[in-house]
Amino acid sequence: MKTSGGSDAMKRRAGESAAAAVSDGDVVGLGTGSTAAHAIRRLGDRVDAGLDIRGVPTSFASRELAVEAAIPCLDLPDAVGPDGPGIDVAIDGADQVATGAGAADAGRGEADAPAPGSGVSDSPAPGGALIKGGGAAHAREKLVDAAADRFLVVADPSKESPRLDRSVPIEVLPAGRTAVAAAIREAGGEPTLRRAERKDGPVVTDNGNLVLDCPFGEVADPAALSATLSSIPGIVEHGLFVGLADEIHVGTESDVRVDE
Ligand code: 5RP
Repeated sequence: MKTSGGSDAMKRRAGESAAAAVSDGDVVGLGTGSTAAHAIRRLGDRVDAGLDIRGVPTSFASRELAVEAAIPCLDLPDAVGPDGPGIDVAIDGADQVATGAGAADAGRGEADAPAPGSGVSDSPAPGGALIKGGGAAHAREKLVDAAADRFLVVADPSKESPRLDRSVPIEVLPAGRTAVAAAIREAGGEPTLRRAERKDGPVVTDNGNLVLDCPFGEVADPAALSATLSSIPGIVEHGLFVGLADEIHVGTESDVRVDE
């Protein structure tokens, strides 16, 4: 699996720390990317040793890893809803983690963000807000991570930043790509269609959609930008995760730091 910077040993420490927080009987959201993969492999070891869990994969790649690790899987529609068991905990990586005041709990309340165009901003502290979607899996990741009772982010220190300033991946319906690109420019972003590295064509998500990578410069108010992007027709999901993280497990040179 492709990695996106940071030392693999640090990613492994983060992933294994989060996997250790899973309990017998849990339904576990299985994130996408090289850091979450370490968590999935460690959960596989624990299943081998008798742990009874079910996984809810966030992508084709995480499902394949779960199958390899012999973790029994549930589909998301069967996990959530009135007849489903729910998701106890989700473990997922990030491309950037805001380290501002309050760490994981700051920035909560995406649903309460002011309406776009209202001119009102509650300027939440960005701490704990994330940019995800480097693996183009952020639409299903957001569904799973938001549905979980606890969402544990796994990262290495290269992902931490006082402010979010990486480009924001945005999954779009193919027919809406030009209209969405125009709306993103209006909102201050610079969209580029993500192209497949080894193929002559665009990246196509597990959902059959396209991805626009959109730098916005420094995102001072992630909740406000999130609300603006969510209001644009044709956007399936964007990679700003605001107010979702409960714990951030950061693997370091020799240890793991857990921010709550
Ligand atoms: C996939 C993601 C990944 O979690 C993110 O790209 C981090 O990946 P990695 O752990 O390989 O650095 O959001 O859509």
